[in-house]
Amino acid sequence: MHYSFLNGRQCKIPKHFLYFRFMILVTGGTGLVGAHLLYHLLLENDKVKAIHRKNSDLQSVKMVFSYYSEDFETIFKRIEWVEADICDVYLLEKAFINVTEVYHAAALISFDPKDYKLLRKVNIEGTSNIVNLCIDQKIKKLCFVSSIATIEKAVNKTTINEDEDWNLENNNYGYAITKYGAEMEVWRASQEGVEVVIVNPGIILGAGFWKKGPGELFTKINKGLKFYSEGITGYIAVTDVVNIMIQLMKSSLKNERYILVSENRSFKEVFFQIADNLDKKRPSILVTPFMSEIGWRLLKVVSIFTRRPPLLTSHSAKSIQNTYFYSSAKIKKALNYEFEPINQTIQKVCFLYKK
Ligand SMILES: NC(=O)c1ccc[n+]([C@@H]2O[C@H](COP(=O)([O-])OP(=O)(O)OC[C@H]3O[C@@H](n4cnc5c(N)ncnc54)[C@H](OP(=O)(O)O)[C@@H]3O)[C@@H](O)[C@H]2O)c1
Repeated sequence: MHYSFLNGRQCKIPKHFLYFRFMILVTGGTGLVGAHLLYHLLLENDKVKAIHRKNSDLQSVKMVFSYYSEDFETIFKRIEWVEADICDVYLLEKAFINVTEVYHAAALISFDPKDYKLLRKVNIEGTSNIVNLCIDQKIKKLCFVSSIATIEKAVNKTTINEDEDWNLENNNYGYAITKYGAEMEVWRASQEGVEVVIVNPGIILGAGFWKKGPGELFTKINKGLKFYSEGITGYIAVTDVVNIMIQLMKSSLKNERYILVSENRSFKEVFFQIADNLDKKRPSILVTPFMSEIGWRLLKVVSIFTRRPPLLTSHSAKSIQNTYFYSSAKIKKALNYEFEPINQTIQKVCFLYKK
């Protein structure tokens, strides 16, 4: 039972009435960001709805919860799971019943050119489905997780911010194109009266999901990864990403997008620090731009024979050599927010990895 004060008198409000009035839906809850987000949302809400697919890995979500609390099973049970795919409007519609706020974190992350069609389907069409339902169901506010991939890397500017117009010629790889297309869909929601906020995180470091995405980096370094590069990009802790998402949704801020980067660091620094914290040998072979160019071509051939996604693609070969500095001044000012230093994030994530 919950309590409320009406005309100065305390009265009891049945829980189901509260749920009806205020229900959050999370997409991508079975991924790194979504799992941490669900945990943080459940600290403040009795119940949260989340979609999952038939083969989604719910155990990994539980594992993430276990990093935060011994009572993780009980907290996990408060998620109302609904089976749905963001590309399946019929199932998605069911998930939207009684929902008032949406956090959309589901996406396909792939830098393999072969996945372009699928990227378009999941990232653009899937987001379009979410947006249409937000409009139809008069959702109050939508938070969309985009990426720094959609932020224009302006020439002759030392620090990159949200201001520059996006140029397809500079960002002509599938993931960036489709995340940008998804943002366009989200702006359409804002035109139709849904309040929206978009976050554009850098590389997200967080505990869990050790076999894919940034989590796999910890596994690879633990297994003795030999290579590093000197390219620079933005990093952020997953806890900062989800805290900011929740704060933005609770605030009156709307129809804005925000770069989320705690620090801009070289791959070398980050890899070395992870190795040190895992008590492993630091990677010792510097991958030069020339080696990257040869490497992705060789690995493409290897992938044809192994029938597995290439370990390095033409895009990732370039991105590990690029030097980009992102500014998070806008979000820092908007929320008066202090990011966790990346050294501290790496320390914490490595501690949980070893555990
Ligand atoms: N990881 C990063 O460093 C990073 C950086 C910047 C931005 N982002 C963005 O942050 C968001 C979350 O990333 P993440 O690292 O948490 O990714 P992740 O661990 O790969 O999780 C992706 C999530 O999307 C879900 N999903 C994929 N296709 C779907 C579909 N057709 N229908 C329903 N759900 C679907 C996955 O469900 P299943 O479990 O069923 O596969 C999973 O829950 C993404 O939008 C990504 O673009 C990530």
